[in-house]
Amino acid sequence: MSTHDDSYGTCLHASVARAWTVDECFGGRDFDLTKRFLPERIAGVEPIGCLGDDEKRMLNQIRGNSYCHIFAFVEEYIVPMVVDHARDDVYGDETRLWTLLRFAEEEVKHQEMLRRACDQFAAGFGSDCGLIPGREDVAGVVLGTSPLTALLLTSMIEWFTQLHYQEHVRDHAELDELFRDILRYHWIDESRHARLDTLLIDEVAAGLSPDQREQAVDELLELGGAVDGLLAQQIELDIDALQAATGRTFADFEREEIRRHQQRAYRWTFLVSGLEHPNFVAIVDQVTAGGAAKLAAAATALSA
Ligand SMILES: [Fe+2]
Ligand SMILES: [Fe+2]
Repeated sequence: MSTHDDSYGTCLHASVARAWTVDECFGGRDFDLTKRFLPERIAGVEPIGCLGDDEKRMLNQIRGNSYCHIFAFVEEYIVPMVVDHARDDVYGDETRLWTLLRFAEEEVKHQEMLRRACDQFAAGFGSDCGLIPGREDVAGVVLGTSPLTALLLTSMIEWFTQLHYQEHVRDHAELDELFRDILRYHWIDESRHARLDTLLIDEVAAGLSPDQREQAVDELLELGGAVDGLLAQQIELDIDALQAATGRTFADFEREEIRRHQQRAYRWTFLVSGLEHPNFVAIVDQVTAGGAAKLAAAATALSA
């Protein structure tokens, strides 16, 4: 137990020492619409043959906007989930309690940051960009799964958030500076949250049978299937937004080409980069016998 206590304490200290505000992140800046927002690994616009360079940049920006929206969307459930875990031991370990309350507060701050990004983008982009509705319904579905399932989903998200920033954004000075900072500030907190998820996963998994743990991985992959359905909806909205922004009407074969490349990019961004993340795979491998193989099979199917 002492290791866990120390870990909560370390995270709490870092959370206080590295605290930031949404105003600091934005610094009064606006997006530079002459620049791309997302790295190509996430945006996946380059191979789309029916689009010119300006159109690829616009689709990249539309994708930047939906990236913020989908993060806010999929993280919605994390606040009530973490508050519930904090309540489990509300009169016990005060360091754990305070750390988890800050975790929840930071996620509320992320919602504010990501919503502000979408609002600022909507005000500046010049044409409408549709965003999938139903965030509270999705949060309800996630919170209706087993506590281990919801924690595994959180862990996967927190690991891929870090990977996106560290490996694909941090060194890419050609991307819009404000957009990079939004991802940087998010990463600062998520690098800590990922450690906290591991502590909570250990706590919850300790009380479960091997079968229950395996079921949590199965349930996680079912949630992944539901996320894939949401991504498909967002792709159609993105293509509509690109039509509005460019004044073009895409022929069916062009729409299909954009859809095919975007499906691959979206799936890598929100599913495969998490399912394949070595730290996440190691966590699943530690609590289940067959989980890592299931993750690998799902990642392969989504990459086809
Ligand atoms: Fe977050
Ligand atoms: Fe987080």
